[in-house]
Amino acid sequence: MGALEGKTAFVTGGAGGIGAAICARFSAEGAEVIAADLSELPASHDGVRSLRYDVTDEVGVSGAFAELGRSWEKLDILVNAAGIEIEKTIEDTSLEEWNRIFAVNVTGMFLTCKHALPLLRKSRGASIINFGSYDGFIADPGLAAYCATKGAVHALTRAMACDYGPEGMRVNAVCPGYVDTPMLQSFFQDSGDIDTLQQAVRDVHPLRTYGTPEDVANLVNWLASDEARYASGQLWVLDGGLSAQVQQMKL
Ligand SMILES: NC(=O)c1ccc[n+]([C@@H]2O[C@H](COP(=O)([O-])OP(=O)(O)OC[C@H]3O[C@@H](n4cnc5c(N)ncnc54)[C@H](O)[C@@H]3O)[C@@H](O)[C@H]2O)c1
Repeated sequence: MGALEGKTAFVTGGAGGIGAAICARFSAEGAEVIAADLSELPASHDGVRSLRYDVTDEVGVSGAFAELGRSWEKLDILVNAAGIEIEKTIEDTSLEEWNRIFAVNVTGMFLTCKHALPLLRKSRGASIINFGSYDGFIADPGLAAYCATKGAVHALTRAMACDYGPEGMRVNAVCPGYVDTPMLQSFFQDSGDIDTLQQAVRDVHPLRTYGTPEDVANLVNWLASDEARYASGQLWVLDGGLSAQVQQMKL
């Protein structure tokens, strides 16, 4: 029997690199899964239902959960994985870009959590998993607005864990380092010689590699499961040791 048998799960950004791996793992563990994203999941993802969903559209978000409440009695697992990145310093970032990244990465998370709460309350021990980043603790150069959104996600996660813990709800954030997804590939493509850059990124990690979406899905699956019943309010860094290491001198 899978770890998530009998559970229901809603995954924003569910068609993305990390989100799709989470949906596939949840489904393999026996959960009923909805991948909610701007775009649809490829048809190959059996057992996962695709829902067109924009985290920034409050009418659409509240409508989606009202509709879901007609077919699902409860929601056990909410994963907020929708996110975008802007690779700029603050002086190169327009107000429109700043507002857009906060709208998706932070306000979108707030809206989804807020409108999911009535269904989450019907679960015995719901688990919310937000996507932060190691960039919410330490900064990559040229990623200012993104770093700021992830710091906000970390604070929101702790605040929600305090507010809803007394009702038996758990709220955690997963904070990956480099994970091989379309988001990371677009970062590489914007930065010149891809092979050299990819090797340099691997070499900077104590484990000499970056992560896969499946590595992230392993942690998310545990946080979603009843085994993690005592885990809440925490920021779970998964980065191959990257943030444990001081910068090395290049002699
Ligand atoms: N890949 C990494 O190295 C890395 C590292 C740290 C944190 N993260 C975080 O993990 C999460 C998933 O990232 P990923 O690497 O899978 O990225 P990705 O680009 O592969 O997937 C992100 C998904 O979010 C969806 N999305 C964007 N705007 C949306 C909106 N308004 N409404 C609904 N969906 C929307 C996109 O369509 C896409 O499918 C993000 O929050 C990201 O910030 C990723």
